[in-house]
Amino acid sequence: LFAGPVDFVKGVVAMEGLPPPDRAEVCFAGRSNVGKSSLINALTGRKNIARASNTPGRTQEINYFTLGDDHYLVDLPGYGFAEAPVAVVAKWQRLLKAYLAGRQTLRRAFVLIDTRHGIKAVDEEILTLLDRSAVTFQVVMTKADKVKAADREKVLAQVRAALQKHPAAYPEIVLTSSEKGDGIETLRAIVAGIG
Ligand code: GTP
Ligand code: MG
Repeated sequence: LFAGPVDFVKGVVAMEGLPPPDRAEVCFAGRSNVGKSSLINALTGRKNIARASNTPGRTQEINYFTLGDDHYLVDLPGYGFAEAPVAVVAKWQRLLKAYLAGRQTLRRAFVLIDTRHGIKAVDEEILTLLDRSAVTFQVVMTKADKVKAADREKVLAQVRAALQKHPAAYPEIVLTSSEKGDGIETLRAIVAGIG
């Protein structure tokens, strides 16, 4: 699907540090601990290329990875509760919002939603920012392995209803488990199709 290497490129702490906008990129946004870094590991097939951890607030920089020669995958710091000092969190939240609103080559934001929890108020804030910035976003449900099939349907219905209000939402929702591999091939194909 992807010709060329998977590599870590760099961690970025300010907008000036972003790599040259010379290829299509997709990013992974979501609440702290929702599973962004784990999903990047699953997509690239590299267990620890993005560092995942049980501590909310693990990823504190904008981390760039290549997936083949044509795509950047961008792992973002989470929003919402994080186990880090308030001033540090505020700094990365500003950077996160500046990035989401202002990156020319950002083709799609994947917004990760925990299948156990559905869309929360903090998610709504980000979805509204993406609407205003005209960045197409697609919801990816994470940790599907932790939820029974019947409960999944309830949460999916809540998410579908919430997306009605968002003009920038891409209609298809992808259900994933980085742990079990569900939905990972589907998501890879979606990324490959984004040029
Ligand atoms: P921050 O960088 O802190 O914002 O978190 P993150 O969104 O990058 O989450 P991360 O990938 O670090 O995962 C958080 C925790 O959830 C880790 O303990 C992961 O092992 C776990 N996790 C992630 N994806 C899955 C999944 O699909 N299934 C299960 N059961 N656990 C998962
Ligand atoms: Mg992370």
